[in-house]
Amino acid sequence: FENRELVLVSNREPYTHERDDGEIQVVRPAGGLTSALDPMMASIGGTWVAWGSGDGDGDVTDEDDCVRVPPESPSYDLKRVFLSDEQVTNYYYGYSNKVLWPLCHSDTSKMTPNATYWRHYQDTNWQFADAILEQVDPEKAVIWFQDYHFALAPRYVREQAPDTFCMQFWHIPWPSWEVLHTCPQYRELLDGLLANDLLGFHTERYCENFLECVSHALDADIDRERGHIHYDGRTIRVAAFPLGIDAEERRTLAASDEADEEWASLREQYHLPDDGLLAVGVDRLDYTKGIEQRLDALEHLWEWYPEYREKLTFVQKASESRGEIEEYQQLQQNVEAEIARINDRFGTDDWTPIVYIDDHLSLAALAALYREGDICLVSSLRDGMNLVAKEFVASQVDDPGVLVLSELVGAHEELGDIALTVHPNDTEAFAATIEKAGEMQPTERSNRMSRLQEQVEANDIGQWKRNVLGEASVLLEQR
Ligand code: G6P
Repeated sequence: FENRELVLVSNREPYTHERDDGEIQVVRPAGGLTSALDPMMASIGGTWVAWGSGDGDGDVTDEDDCVRVPPESPSYDLKRVFLSDEQVTNYYYGYSNKVLWPLCHSDTSKMTPNATYWRHYQDTNWQFADAILEQVDPEKAVIWFQDYHFALAPRYVREQAPDTFCMQFWHIPWPSWEVLHTCPQYRELLDGLLANDLLGFHTERYCENFLECVSHALDADIDRERGHIHYDGRTIRVAAFPLGIDAEERRTLAASDEADEEWASLREQYHLPDDGLLAVGVDRLDYTKGIEQRLDALEHLWEWYPEYREKLTFVQKASESRGEIEEYQQLQQNVEAEIARINDRFGTDDWTPIVYIDDHLSLAALAALYREGDICLVSSLRDGMNLVAKEFVASQVDDPGVLVLSELVGAHEELGDIALTVHPNDTEAFAATIEKAGEMQPTERSNRMSRLQEQVEANDIGQWKRNVLGEASVLLEQR
């Protein structure tokens, strides 16, 4: 947009600086949002405002709390907002991850709203709104909020600078009205989001849910055809923009010498077998990812199709996440215990059925793991999009593998007809589908994989960026 600076706002920062024995190390956090948006910011430039969560973050920032990134070739400013421990407990772990996360993933039994969480969520959203307005001239900026940590900040920006152009992309599902209604702050959340000019979700379904919620909760006029909400004297556009990945980068990386080297050391370190089938799962350790359901399906596979013992090895790469929350600790314990039990049940002197990797893997090592995977298991119980499915597809540069995809993830709207679909709670059918994937003939594998690749490449991150920013430009011109 001519003469306007892009200001991206997210909770998680794309780079953290951590202290390690007195040395400052740069770390890239796990999670789809930051890995998808960093390359885009690197190419456009501008400012990224995010929580400075690393213990060395304050050591490298200037007087405005900014640092230039990416570290290898700096091209945009990362402005850090520093939060107190109390804020982290109540705004991040509390309202964001113990209320909004389970709510939006329709798992209301895990939702524990309370007044302190809510108060800190409001205060922290104010703090971010102030940090943005301190940094930029709102008349000359496009403020782009990301995700569920900032349902109120657009409202707080608009209260102080009414003509600011604000937009938001919600990276997780939007639930039905029945589910949203269980959250006491549903009105404030909707009102906050409607302070945006443009509001994006991954799928049409989430947009429909959102419009439905607004129609029940607020006094607004809704034009479903055009995705317009008329509210409080303004018009808000709501639209679906399915997020993609940098497919070309993934493909190049998977085919690189570096990936070959990483694969050799992964095989040695984890004693991965030279032959047979390799199935892979790659997730943040989160209860929405259906990791336990996947393990159940694998156990059934080895039980009912004994020829798959010593033939199919499963590698689970897990990134520890939100470890201060009890549900996440519990999940980690359950997953580790289940893997130990299954390995004990079917393992032999020469074969470990499930290899668990919780160490950090470099992007090249991850690319190698995807590339070598014959089958990728994505079994989320709910997932806004799920970029792992797309990363696996883009990394299949040699012998084509099979994507097994839960019908409950956003990516299923795009890839569901070509991948093998599973319902994570239907253990028997899930096990049979893994067997089907294992038996699939090379021609069918290759047909399906090339169609998946076409889809993932056509709707890559570049296309997503053009769609979202294109829509924003149209709205700006109409102003
Ligand atoms: C999901 C969310 C992101 C979040 C990421 C990692 O992808 O949509 O907003 O950053 O998970 O979770 P964390 O809590 O570590 O930031």
